[in-house]
Amino acid sequence: MPLVSPKEMFAKAYAGGYAIGAFNVNNMEIIQGIMEAGKAENAPLILQVSAGARKYAGQNYIMKLMEAAMQDTDLPVVLHLDHGPNFEMCKAVIDGGFTSVMYDGSHLSYEENIAETKKVVEYAHARGVWVEAELGRLAGVEEDVQSDDHVYTDPEQAKDFVTRTGCDSLAIAIGTSHGAYKFKGEAKLDFARLEKVGQLLPGVPIVLHGASSVPQEFVEMVNKYGGHVPGARGVPEDLLRKAAGMAVCKINIDSDIRLAMTACIRKHLAENPGDFDPRQYLTPARNAVRDMVQRKIKNVLGCSGKA
Ligand code: G3H
Ligand code: 13P
Ligand code: ZN
Repeated sequence: MPLVSPKEMFAKAYAGGYAIGAFNVNNMEIIQGIMEAGKAENAPLILQVSAGARKYAGQNYIMKLMEAAMQDTDLPVVLHLDHGPNFEMCKAVIDGGFTSVMYDGSHLSYEENIAETKKVVEYAHARGVWVEAELGRLAGVEEDVQSDDHVYTDPEQAKDFVTRTGCDSLAIAIGTSHGAYKFKGEAKLDFARLEKVGQLLPGVPIVLHGASSVPQEFVEMVNKYGGHVPGARGVPEDLLRKAAGMAVCKINIDSDIRLAMTACIRKHLAENPGDFDPRQYLTPARNAVRDMVQRKIKNVLGCSGKA
């Protein structure tokens, strides 16, 4: 089965009140774990590659791994560029076979963001590729850079932005943030803002970045086996489920996969100090990816059986 555009899966998710998980991938084990979960749940999938992941693994390796992954499945799967930093990188992945790109101009001025997003839209649409853009800014860690301030998305501006750029989906800021330290006080999302965006942009799939829920059992496991992630906290799963029932059609998850893999690797090595064959600790790590993705599909996304 070839990779697909997200168009149809988002249309179904929008109408059905559920969301598709977009899981970040960096290597073979993560790709295999996600694919296994998708098959077990018969769920549509988005696998996404950040600029850092592309640099780490290499675009050719990612493409070949995805080719292998798609050889034995009928699941609809999208390959997406996460936080594309410039036109050149968007072009390179489109030319290489990605079916969806995010151009992230959220750090630019409003008019510059529009101009750059439009350029990517023009190139991508001529080749049948989907474009996600971002308006507003999330606090948290991105490409190793920490930003402390949220800039929540203005709903009226979001309408103007989508109209003027022609982008297909929009990432908005309503209180989520990247990384494993999302909330110090009460965890909350601005649902009134999300509702307003949904009213002003009917039919446009909305994207939530920074949507890991940082399950406490994995935080505890990391800390128990020699790690140090005190106070890590994510977005409660019930808030994400509520967003998935609204205009949110794509929910981005990276930190939870990192945390689950690392917890299992730490545990394995602590309990088996003599092991030094990477397969011995990467097998439980790969299973942890599968289990985490299945948990998301069932508890958060609501897309089980929707492939
Ligand atoms: O939003 C960022 C993603 O979690 C990717 O992170 O840039 O460290 O690969 P990365
Ligand atoms: P998390 O850090 O919450 O997993 O967010 C990932 C993300 O938004 C990738 O674009
Ligand atoms: Zn993100």
